[in-house]
Amino acid sequence: MNFKQIIAEIVDFEGIDKNTVASSLTLPPDASMGDFSLPCFVFAKTLHKSPMQIATDIQANLKQSELIEKTQIIGGYLNFYLNKNKIVQEVIKNLLKNDYKPKDKNNKVMCIDYSSVNLAKYMHIGHWATTIIGEAIARLYENQGYNVVRMNYVGDYGLPFGKMMYGYLEWGNKQDVEKRGIDALQEYYVKFCANESEELLEKAREYSKKIEEKDEKIFPIYEWFIDISKKEAKRLLDRAGITFDTWRGESYYNDKMDSVIDELKSSGLAKVSEGALIVDLNEYNMGVSVVQRSDGASLYVTRDIAALEDRYKTYNFDDMIYVTAVQQCNHFDKLFKICELLGKPYANKLFHAAYGMFSLPEGKIASRKGKQALFEDLLNDAEQNVLETIKDKNFSEEKKKDLSVKIGKSAVAFSILKVDRIKDKVFDKDQATSFDGETAPYIQYTYARINSILKKAKTLGIEYNDVDLSLLASDTIFEICKQLNSIQDVIDVAFDKKEPSILARELLQVCKNFNKFYGEKKVVDENDMAQTKALCAFTECVKYLLLYTMPLLCIEIVEEM
Ligand code: ARG
Repeated sequence: MNFKQIIAEIVDFEGIDKNTVASSLTLPPDASMGDFSLPCFVFAKTLHKSPMQIATDIQANLKQSELIEKTQIIGGYLNFYLNKNKIVQEVIKNLLKNDYKPKDKNNKVMCIDYSSVNLAKYMHIGHWATTIIGEAIARLYENQGYNVVRMNYVGDYGLPFGKMMYGYLEWGNKQDVEKRGIDALQEYYVKFCANESEELLEKAREYSKKIEEKDEKIFPIYEWFIDISKKEAKRLLDRAGITFDTWRGESYYNDKMDSVIDELKSSGLAKVSEGALIVDLNEYNMGVSVVQRSDGASLYVTRDIAALEDRYKTYNFDDMIYVTAVQQCNHFDKLFKICELLGKPYANKLFHAAYGMFSLPEGKIASRKGKQALFEDLLNDAEQNVLETIKDKNFSEEKKKDLSVKIGKSAVAFSILKVDRIKDKVFDKDQATSFDGETAPYIQYTYARINSILKKAKTLGIEYNDVDLSLLASDTIFEICKQLNSIQDVIDVAFDKKEPSILARELLQVCKNFNKFYGEKKVVDENDMAQTKALCAFTECVKYLLLYTMPLLCIEIVEEM
């Protein structure tokens, strides 16, 4: 039900366009002033009358509708008061039969490049933000009917692998890597960094060159390292519940650079400067972009140009989204500008979804393996906290474990998603896993509560035919109904802005309102079956909303907790 459209329909006035009415309606500053407000100065120019006069005229000519209780003129505004009871009945009646559904599949393709870890290092907590925000954006696109291609453009190229190779050949051995896998590789890399000197660096450079040249002795070892590292990244992402469609990384593009360089040159965009090839973007306040080093080596931006060409050819995408930290804004500004200057057909289909820092509270930085807390530490900590909270519950050990896994990862994800993408975020494990706060567990708890209410109702034989919906009369119910009614609009805005936090906050508000309702009403009352029926029908609709939106925000559904 579209309230604005309904109001536009009953405003029947010569010279006033319905669509303008619908789009001009605003929310009054407080609820005592009605539910919607029509600023009549919008029509003053066309009607040649004062806003006050227009408001009076419109009011005198309104069509009758049982959905509107009354109207009131304040200044040049015409305020509409919805008939709460009727609205509630309409909304619930529709939702009960309808259920929420994602939009129909369209033929559009969205590619999203996120997580994209550098494989030479452990995944650390910074990777949570790109991984979770990227996944949530992907799900918002799927909700709109897009085909989504999830891309993990792993950093599998360059000097870090030369360093790792040196460490392995100098201090390691095959058995060690076979036994300890990623831990061994990390150790070599860290040891190299601790001992780094000009001499060692020279060696590392030699190895990375050999890797590039696919040296027959060195290259297979490198491939083995990459294989181990990818498996480890997959294992971690799997724990977070996230899978990718492609793992094609940077190194894949390294030997496919010639055509890019040719095009940059022949278009006149790139020029030689001190032996290197550069694109001067000073005119656009973006500085200079080096696209080829003087020794002929390719660069991050050049590989990205090549990857884009390849992706467009393969997927013919309608949108291509990159999710990285704000620190890379300049890189993507340059990349997008170069595509535009080259006249690429996809230049206006590119979007950089930047996010702020994700860190731990000051002084609490702790990790098993080093200074930086790792991706997995957060999951373990969150799960541990949840286990502690539910330890006295009457569940089997297996069930407790399962709950802690599902609630733990949701808690980590939601602590990121509830904050504006661009703002810095802090992971406070106690806060994030609290069952009573702005958290995933709070939402999951609300769902579980609803579930238990409805289960109880079922044992009483409650069904939802001939429900007397007129019994649903309270301000809280009305507030929730407005949310039930407009949730798709909220999702649409979140999608449009690539901003999952908009949906996250709305979902929290729905839960808060529902818990308020639960405090106000005895939902299941065996002495009043008619009311029980109505309240349960309403509760059922709230359940639909949660079932529909929680997965969009990477929150697992748990039936009881
Ligand atoms: N591997 C890069 C990093 O960790 C992120 C890659 C983002 N994607 C891209 N196409 N540049 O900083």
